[in-house]
Amino acid sequence: MRAFVLRSVSESAEVELAEVPKPEPGPEQLLVKNQYAALNWADTQIRRGLYGNLPNLPVVMGAEFAGVVERTGPGVTEFCAGDRVAAIGQHYCGGFAEYATVPQERAIRLPEAVSTTQGAAFPVTALTAYHLLFSAFSLRPEHSILIHAIGGALGSALIQLAKDVGTRVLGTTYSPHKIPLAKEAGADLVIDRSQADFVQEATAATNGSGVDLIIDSLGGDTLWRSFDALASFGTLINLGEAEGWPQGEVRKLRDVLHSRSAAFRCYDLEAAEPGSARWRKGVDYILERLADGRLKVTIAKEFAFQDCVDMFHALESRQFLGKLLLKIP
Ligand SMILES: NC(=O)c1ccc[n+]([C@@H]2O[C@H](COP(=O)([O-])OP(=O)(O)OC[C@H]3O[C@@H](n4cnc5c(N)ncnc54)[C@H](OP(=O)(O)O)[C@@H]3O)[C@@H](O)[C@H]2O)c1
Repeated sequence: MRAFVLRSVSESAEVELAEVPKPEPGPEQLLVKNQYAALNWADTQIRRGLYGNLPNLPVVMGAEFAGVVERTGPGVTEFCAGDRVAAIGQHYCGGFAEYATVPQERAIRLPEAVSTTQGAAFPVTALTAYHLLFSAFSLRPEHSILIHAIGGALGSALIQLAKDVGTRVLGTTYSPHKIPLAKEAGADLVIDRSQADFVQEATAATNGSGVDLIIDSLGGDTLWRSFDALASFGTLINLGEAEGWPQGEVRKLRDVLHSRSAAFRCYDLEAAEPGSARWRKGVDYILERLADGRLKVTIAKEFAFQDCVDMFHALESRQFLGKLLLKIP
C-alpha cells in the first residue's frame, strides 16, 4: 500500500510517499481502509523532532483518520467490517496511508449524521477542547476564557464549545488575518499579539480582574506572561509549545504534570476577597454546618492569657491535636 513515511526528523525532514506492506490487524485491532486523514500541529512537531514523545522511525505519519473497517482482528467485539469509523492512531501515527490498523478502543463509530471528512478532522482537536473545558476545568457561563492561537483548529473547537456554555471568550493570535474567522466562530474579543500586549488587553477587557481560564498551546515566554492575565482562582492549562519549550523551573513543573494532565495551583485566602459573593458563599456554607453539628472544630487546649508563649511552644512541639486557644481576660 502507499503511505507517507517519515525516515528522519529535522527542520528540513519531509514525509516521503513509499510502498509499504499493508498492515495486518492484531488482537483487538481494526484494519481501516482510510478515506481521510487530518493534520495536527503535533505532526509538524514530530517531523521537526520537537515532539515530546517521538515515535520510532521510520514511521507512517498521521494522528487522526477516518474510513471504513475492512477487517477485524481476533477479540474485536465493538466493530465489524463495513463500519464507518474515525480514529486516533496508536502513537499518533498511521493515518497518512491507504490502510491503518488501530486498537478498537481508539476507534469511534461515526453516526450517519457525521460525515467522514468531519470524522477525520474532529478526534484530536474537538476531544481536546472538550477535556480542557470540562475535565480539566468545569466551565460555566459566568467564567471568562482566554485562548492563545485562537484562530487555529483547536481554537475554533474551543470557541464553539465555550460559546455553547455561554462563556465570554477572549483570544490571541499572532496572525491578524485569523481575527475575522475567530470572531465569526463566536469569539468576543481577539487580541492581535503582533501589535498589542495581551496581558494588558485581557486585563482591561475584564475590568482589571483577569480571566478565569487560559488555554496556552504556545509555551515559550507566553506561558510565563499568561499567569499575569489570570483572575483570582483562575486556571492556566498548558498543552503545547508552538513557540518553543518554556525554560527553567516552569519547564520542570510542566514535565512533571503533563502526562497526567495534572494541575498545580496556589492558594491565598485573601484571593477569596472578604465581603465578596464568593467569600459570603464560603461563610454561609461553614456557618450552616457549624450550627447543625456537621462541622466541629476540635479545641486541643485553652491557654491562660499569660501563657501565650507556652501556646506557641505547644504548637511547635507537635503534641496537640486541634486548635490551641488563648483565653483573653
Ligand atoms: N497536548 C495535547 O494532547 C494536545 C492535543 C491537541 C493539540 N495540542 C496543541 O494545541 C495546539 C493547537 O493545535 P492545532 O493542531 O489546532 O494547531 P493550530 O492551532 O491550527 O496551529 C498552531 C498555531 O500555533 C501558532 N503558532 C505559534 N508559533 C508558531 C510558529 N512558529 N509557526 C506556526 N504557527 C505558530 C499559530 O497561531 P497564530 O498564527 O495565532 O500565532 C498556529 O495557528 C498545538 O500547540 C498542539 O500541539 C496539544
